Amino acid sequence: MGWKLKKSVVMVGMMGAGKSAVGKATAQLLDVPFRDSDAEIEAAANMTIAEIFARDGEDFFRKKERQVIARLLEETPSILSTGGGAYMSEENRRLISDHGAALWLDADLDLLWNRVRHRDTRPLLRTADPRATLRDLYDRRVPIYRMAEIAVQSLPGLSVHEMAGRVVEA
Ligand code: S3P
Repeated sequence: MGWKLKKSVVMVGMMGAGKSAVGKATAQLLDVPFRDSDAEIEAAANMTIAEIFARDGEDFFRKKERQVIARLLEETPSILSTGGGAYMSEENRRLISDHGAALWLDADLDLLWNRVRHRDTRPLLRTADPRATLRDLYDRRVPIYRMAEIAVQSLPGLSVHEMAGRVVEA
């Protein structure tokens, strides 16, 4: 305890990696602020992410995501969880490295699929073959996530609390 963040730690990684749950638990452990860009976007729009995608499209969502991340990074340093696509934007990566450090929560494809398969909240997975879509996103995104300053592997048997402990150590 008694931690004070000098810079934000930005959780990046695929959907289902546990960015929000582990980010929140880490912030509680360290007693520092926690923020979640998807939750902020939803609250501001008073709509779910799926509704925003359906009504306004992905480009609109990405614009909002960029604005929200920029604003949150300007505020008090926090543990900031972002949506899985946020780190794909070069502009976002620059903002993140200017204001903090990216922490990649690295989980393998089977673990991710098991976490997301029963949920209908991810608009990008509303395809004929969501498993293949997830694999495709994974293959394209992992090389970019590797640019993060810190990487922590998400292990299937660990609780959110244990994962938060790994994040603190990292
Ligand atoms: C997205 C991931 C989602 C959400 C949106 C797009 C992505 O967040 O931002 O559906 O591009 O991978 P989670 O990573 O929290 O699921």
